[in-house]
Amino acid sequence: MSSRTAAEILGTPLTINKLTLKNRIILGPMAVLRPTSDGRPSDQSIAFLSRRAAGGVGAVIVGGSVATARAFRESPFAPNIRYDDDMFVPGLRRLVDAVHAAAPDVAIFAQLFPSFGRMGVPRDGHEIVSASPKRVDMGAHGLPDNVYLPGGQATPLPNEAGVDEIKELEQAVVDAARRAKAAGFDGIEIAAHMCYFYSSFLSPLSNFRTDEYGGSVENRARALRDTVAAVRQEIGPDLALGLRLSANDHAPSGQGPEGFAAVTAEIARAGLDFVALTDGNYESMRDNVPRESGKMLREGEPQAFRDSLGPSVALFLSSTPDPDQAAAAIADGIVDATMLARQMLADPDYATKVLEGRSTEIVWCDHANSCMRRLILQVAVQCHKNPEMGHEHPSAKGSNPAQNLVIWAAGNRALMRTADKAIRASRRLRRSGPAAVRTGER
Ligand SMILES: Cc1cc2nc3c(=O)[nH]c(=O)nc-3n(C[C@H](O)[C@H](O)[C@H](O)COP(=O)(O)O)c2cc1C
Ligand code: SF4
Repeated sequence: MSSRTAAEILGTPLTINKLTLKNRIILGPMAVLRPTSDGRPSDQSIAFLSRRAAGGVGAVIVGGSVATARAFRESPFAPNIRYDDDMFVPGLRRLVDAVHAAAPDVAIFAQLFPSFGRMGVPRDGHEIVSASPKRVDMGAHGLPDNVYLPGGQATPLPNEAGVDEIKELEQAVVDAARRAKAAGFDGIEIAAHMCYFYSSFLSPLSNFRTDEYGGSVENRARALRDTVAAVRQEIGPDLALGLRLSANDHAPSGQGPEGFAAVTAEIARAGLDFVALTDGNYESMRDNVPRESGKMLREGEPQAFRDSLGPSVALFLSSTPDPDQAAAAIADGIVDATMLARQMLADPDYATKVLEGRSTEIVWCDHANSCMRRLILQVAVQCHKNPEMGHEHPSAKGSNPAQNLVIWAAGNRALMRTADKAIRASRRLRRSGPAAVRTGER
């Protein structure tokens, strides 16, 4: 690493297209914003983001959002902030203006969620669609610490998306991008990670198509590349545009970082300014929300993207709260910025403390994941390391004692093992009758 300190490296401005971030610490997107039930940013959404912006980051990415009517209908993490109609633009503008007023030198990025794909929930008689019909085998390669799925998780089987559906979604994303620009966002991130719609095209793990959207790298890139090109056309050359991608399937039949980097290079030609890298997906959740800092770097994931994309596309690194590790990766030219999620729940002043050389004062996230359990169970997200989190605005209501008990129980290994056995036994009973349970049939 260079002789510069972590504070100096992370405090260096970063230019992305025409936008200059004042430093290289970014708030990652999180569905913790508690928007109104009709999909507009609430006072709490604004207060949460303004607090993080005032805590010294260079940019905040607004998560928990839906870009299209499809994503709104099928969201497993409602309520969401909506971009799927012009009537949402004034509320979005209120959010952007409020964050800019709280921290004028902090950029605010919209995360556009096109469709939840394989993770979608079929509702109102509508099917979910994906590149190919493949369920998500949740946590097949490991769940995060203290997250359990009693009975395993059976997601519905998606239909193979028709070309008309792919094109319809492309247009809906373009419209959402137009609204994000009209609302004054400084940048746009298209969500193409985890097991969501666009992600399902990128890897042979979930794309078995034999048409022009499957097979070769060029074909697997096509749906997302066309969307990026159409969004770029809509928003013009100057607004920062990027993707959120999984860098590695972490599955034997899946794709590693080199494969993802090759598909991304194909897409980048359509006009990308940045790629926000995340690790794993719902089938490898332990990799997606790791306990240890710097895991992606050790596995060579950002390095593969840098080799493939070169220096012109900015790379955001995930899950590396250790400032020295993140700064070293930036100094070595592997990534351009560090992007943090859970750590920013635990300590909204993380960036200021790092940049002022006060790292000893950081309140560290313990990676015990009660925030994840709250997200999954759709209970108001709070962080036990930071009592202010979730109550940044006085109007925000926290969870009630019964919900707190559920969140505790959902993280208790012994209880969840018992629940797992009970669910599997009742499933066998339903399938085969009482004899199957007595003989231990699976
Ligand atoms: C409570 C919670 C909500 C999240 N919501 C989103 C979201 O809306 N969009 C998204 O792309 N990722 C979301 N994530 C994933 C994070 O952005 C991030 O990729 C993940 O937590 C790993 O980063 P970390 O180790 O810094 O926490 C969420 C994570 C948490 C803990
Ligand atoms: S609840 Fe707080 S301390 Fe625990 S993992 Fe989530 S952010 Fe970290």
